[in-house]
Amino acid sequence: MTLASIDAKTTPPAGQETVLSMVIPTYNERGNVAELIRRLDLTLAGISWEAIFVDDNSPDGTADALKQIARTDPRIRCLRRVGRRGLAGACIEGMLASSATYVAVMDADLQHDETVLPAMLAKLQSGQYDLVAATRYVDGGDASSFSASRGKISRLATKITQRLLGTELSDPMSGFFMMRRASFDEMVPRLSPVGFKILLDIATAKEGLRIAEQAYTFGTRFDGESKFNMQIGIEFLGLLLSKMTNGHLDPRFIFFAIVGATGIAVNLIIFYLALLLWPAASFEVAKAVATGVAMTSNFLLNNSLTYRDRRLKGLGLVRGFIGFCVFGAIGAFTDIGLASQLHHQHEVWWVAGLAGSIVGVLWNYAMSSMFIWRT
Ligand code: GDD
Ligand code: MN
Repeated sequence: MTLASIDAKTTPPAGQETVLSMVIPTYNERGNVAELIRRLDLTLAGISWEAIFVDDNSPDGTADALKQIARTDPRIRCLRRVGRRGLAGACIEGMLASSATYVAVMDADLQHDETVLPAMLAKLQSGQYDLVAATRYVDGGDASSFSASRGKISRLATKITQRLLGTELSDPMSGFFMMRRASFDEMVPRLSPVGFKILLDIATAKEGLRIAEQAYTFGTRFDGESKFNMQIGIEFLGLLLSKMTNGHLDPRFIFFAIVGATGIAVNLIIFYLALLLWPAASFEVAKAVATGVAMTSNFLLNNSLTYRDRRLKGLGLVRGFIGFCVFGAIGAFTDIGLASQLHHQHEVWWVAGLAGSIVGVLWNYAMSSMFIWRT
């Protein structure tokens, strides 16, 4: 049998080309997905579309609800990720699963107004743009559904981002956009799976990206609750810092370094308190307690922040902590060894000290990424 005849037998007849993949990250959105699909179906009538839900194994059974719908609706797919969490990473994986000409990302809770999707698609199909960002902060847009405090945070973050990165986006915090899949594919290696701000990451990942905006009204959540929290705010700072170094510093490394710096502060504070409140303790014992507390807080912070998407639990957490201490001790010896060697070669004391610390941090980071929070 020739190859051509095998092909002719096994290749299904070509169907309609999929124009648009909707990528929808979900975490505990069981009460929203059916309504969202119903609305997409109405709005996208006449467009060949599909929806790729990326669910991080939601305890409320969102994936089950989706798979139930998908049994009878081939446009719906649910990618269930186990053991990982993160909005940006979920969006990236969903977009990678698309083979459509255009991909859009939107929230599952109906806060993003789906009725602007056809207008966004038309802008891309005009061929003039690579990315269309939905925005609340231009004429015709609206974000008044935000609570007063959340509204303030959003506007402040928007201003800081615009100042620091000089982005042309009026709403860089938006999680609602559509783009040419080919543009996305080109930039994948430069995107970070950490945090909430996937649009900002994408819009700044490639020089010369042609960006249009689309005004929309930010609605209220249909069901369930927001997953936004302090930690996500801090992660956002990491993304900003990384962008400011033109991506030369990985946000993960920035978090690792920030956590390291908090460790120094914790160490000094505990040391001070121990000497103050526990006069019977010797200097060495107080220092050992302080170092132990700082190591533990560093480990836990790295587990919940730096490596949030690879978080260790149960026995893995204990094993990870032991490894972290062992690598940390080796790192400290390297640090001290290098500093003293440089110092002997008549270097200025702080250059020697700093060089030692930098090598120590790099070592700890490399070991943590490769052996403790490995993928
Ligand atoms: N897979 C996955 N994993 N999805 C997640 C995760 C996660 O860890 N965290 C949140 N999501 C999903 C939610 O289920 C929802 O569909 C969407 O991401 C947005 O999450 P919300 O919890 O509703 O966030 P929000 O409304 O507070 O923030 C939204 O609005 C902001 C506007 O300022 C997001 O769209 C932000 O990106 C946006 O900046
Ligand atoms: Mn929301």
